Amino acid sequence: MPLVTSTEMFKKAYEGGYAIGAFNVNNMETIQGIVSAAKEENAPLILQVSSGARKYANPIYLRHLIEAAVEDTGLPIVMHLDHGDTFELCKDCIENGFTSVMIDASSHPFEENIKITKKVVEYAHDHGVVVEAELGKLAGIEDDVKVKDADAAYTDPDQVEEFVGRTGVDSLAIAIGTSHGAYKFKGEAKLRFDILEKVAEKLPGFPIVLHGASSVIPEYAQMIEQYGGSMPGAKGVPEDLLRKAASMAVCKINIDSDLRMAFTAAVRKHFSENPTHFDPRQYLTDARALIKECVKHKLVNVLGCNGKA
Ligand code: G3H
Ligand code: 13P
Ligand code: ZN
Repeated sequence: MPLVTSTEMFKKAYEGGYAIGAFNVNNMETIQGIVSAAKEENAPLILQVSSGARKYANPIYLRHLIEAAVEDTGLPIVMHLDHGDTFELCKDCIENGFTSVMIDASSHPFEENIKITKKVVEYAHDHGVVVEAELGKLAGIEDDVKVKDADAAYTDPDQVEEFVGRTGVDSLAIAIGTSHGAYKFKGEAKLRFDILEKVAEKLPGFPIVLHGASSVIPEYAQMIEQYGGSMPGAKGVPEDLLRKAASMAVCKINIDSDLRMAFTAAVRKHFSENPTHFDPRQYLTDARALIKECVKHKLVNVLGCNGKA
């Protein structure tokens, strides 16, 4: 089976009350860990590439690694651009094998967001590629997405119908209280399910996307601390809230930070226990294994997409 778009996946996920995992990838071991988990659980997958990943790995390597994952597993896999910030970047991905792109023009005013998104949608649809857009602003910092807490804004449910209608976008990321990175909540973790419900009422059957959805798995935070690292105050989205979102209109759940933590925890543990090792295959084997364990847990216990490939 070649790379697929997310159209069928989202339709089944919406009807089945589960979500597809969208995992960020930057290197071979992470891709291998994710796809071996998905293969064992017979789960559909979205592998997503950010601008930061493109800068780190070179897009050509990532594209061929993802194509290798398809050939290796035969699973339905979507190759998705995460947080594309310009038409040109989306166009480049569309021309180079991506089956799905995100245009994140959420930092622009409403009319400008519509204008940029519509232009990407027209080009993408002409090439058989689907598009995710964002309305509302998530807080958090990664390489190319920097939104201060004070600038974060929940999605306004009264805008979603017009946005989707005028852009023709295929899925929509909304802001309901999640944020990017490993430090999401200072106090109690709270998601605005009332907003999600209103959005779903306005857009019946339409797939919603949740970014910033890592849980900050305590076991990995503890491992990082135990083996010489430090992540004070790290806090993610509780898994029961993610399960609830997946049972509602949320069809795609984005996970990056949990994978970064699993990878780092495994490498730290490896060096602490094997200070003389210097063959990267030794410690990367452990990193890949913990990524796999993390993804299996997500597929079965959080997303509910096991057995749905
Ligand atoms: O939401 C974005 C992802 O976590 C990617 O982060 O831009 O540091 O690769 P990055
Ligand atoms: P996390 O930082 O919570 O893993 O979110 C990742 C994400 O939204 C990628 O687009
Ligand atoms: Zn994101």
